[in-house]
Amino acid sequence: MSAASSLFAGLLCLCTTLTAQSPPRFTLPEVPFDYFPVPAPGAKAIPARNDALPLAIANRRAALGRVLFYDVELSATRTRSCGSCHRQEHAFADDRRFSRGARAPTARNTMPLQNLGQRRAGFFWDERAAGLELAVLLPITNHAEMGMTMPAVVERLQALPDYAPLFTAAFGDAGISEARVGWALAQFVRALVSQGSRFDEGLVLAGGDVDADFPNFTATENRGKALFVGTGSTRRHSCAECHLGHHYGPCGHSWTPLPQNLQAETSRNNGLDAGKQDDDPGRAGVTGLDADRGKFLAPSLRNIAVTAPYMHDGRFATLDEVMQFYATGVRATANLDPVLAPTGRGGWGGGRRDHPLQLHTASLASPLVDLGLNLTPDERHDLVAFLHTLTDRTFLSEPRFADPFVAP
Ligand code: HEC
Ligand code: HEC
Repeated sequence: MSAASSLFAGLLCLCTTLTAQSPPRFTLPEVPFDYFPVPAPGAKAIPARNDALPLAIANRRAALGRVLFYDVELSATRTRSCGSCHRQEHAFADDRRFSRGARAPTARNTMPLQNLGQRRAGFFWDERAAGLELAVLLPITNHAEMGMTMPAVVERLQALPDYAPLFTAAFGDAGISEARVGWALAQFVRALVSQGSRFDEGLVLAGGDVDADFPNFTATENRGKALFVGTGSTRRHSCAECHLGHHYGPCGHSWTPLPQNLQAETSRNNGLDAGKQDDDPGRAGVTGLDADRGKFLAPSLRNIAVTAPYMHDGRFATLDEVMQFYATGVRATANLDPVLAPTGRGGWGGGRRDHPLQLHTASLASPLVDLGLNLTPDERHDLVAFLHTLTDRTFLSEPRFADPFVAP
């Protein structure tokens, strides 16, 4: 046992002793969890910790972050924790259109929390937070969600005897500050890595080539995958253009997907709304630019089968409804993303009749005509089957991410 881990074990005993009089509020394992396991052979590591931080410290910060994440003391009413809305069995989203906050329902659908160390865009549906350390604190001070002030949080945590040993283990002394709460929460959230889906296994079996048929997939799932990622020149008309990380070649034209990153890199307008004044402005609410109206950052599509309902306002109850929307319900506003815009409006590969995701409306007789991708019912079925391969059962039940609080 290293000096550092015996110190930690000692502190844990101290924690138990201190709380011996009253029953402990939460239970942590005697041997601290490892929040940063080495990925399976052949799988690319997903960034989960700052490499400058020693592993043992990062683990203790994540362990503290886990307790904070599930502690209702962080909300004004002592009724809601991060985990009340971000529920593990739903990939840290929940199953409601709008979640119950301490004081009011949320204005948007709760986003899943997974692989956020890989995020290249900002945080939240409108990217209003640039960094995760800030993003994890905003819900605490949001009036509807938790309704606290940070000084009040610090004061409450100082009054709870069970936190001093955890802060000491994570930061070297028992000092509690807003910044430390942010660092610990962010470290736990970044450790929420999902990489154990059948898609991940298939990607390793296929040597990292997302275009190859995956040997562990059914024919339906492989067809859905091909529709999702497109191939060659059709890539830029595929779902992957908006939903996979990617990088451009030297000339800016070759497009290489980073398939293990199933996250959008920028907010886009996917044609959900007709552009009315009372629609959620999305990104425009942050930038004030008309060109950003109706643009949203799509969360990772990992575990998408368990994060219903869908979209920023949870308007679609099922993945079938989402596919029906992409097939026939896309609204052609001025801000509609070029990937979904028809020929003549700057759409890439416009006029390509051979493309599997060919847009089926070629003219814009009315500016609000509904558009869509030319998806047959079979193709919609294949896409949904593919999306189900992104479910990672281990992630959804992993004990190191679970609620450590003892039920009253
Ligand atoms: C009342 C429900 C609720 C609570 C409590 C809550 N959240 Fe959230 N969370 C949401 C909603 C809703 C969103 C999306 C908000 C938006 O974009 O406007 C969100 C978004 C996020 C995001 C951005 C994810 C992304 O992909 O960009 C992070 C990070 C996050 N929450 C972390 C936390 C943490 C940490 C806590 C506890 C301190 C917490 N949340 C408490 C509902 C909640
Ligand atoms: C032009 C970019 C774009 C294309 C192309 C696109 N999407 Fe999306 N997708 C988005 C955006 C942006 C959102 C979030 C929109 C919102 O909530 O306002 C989204 C949301 C979703 C969601 C719901 C996510 C959630 O967590 O609620 C699913 C599922 C989805 N898309 C699947 C697909 C599939 C499958 C395809 C291909 C048939 C596709 N998308 C094509 C941009 C795109």
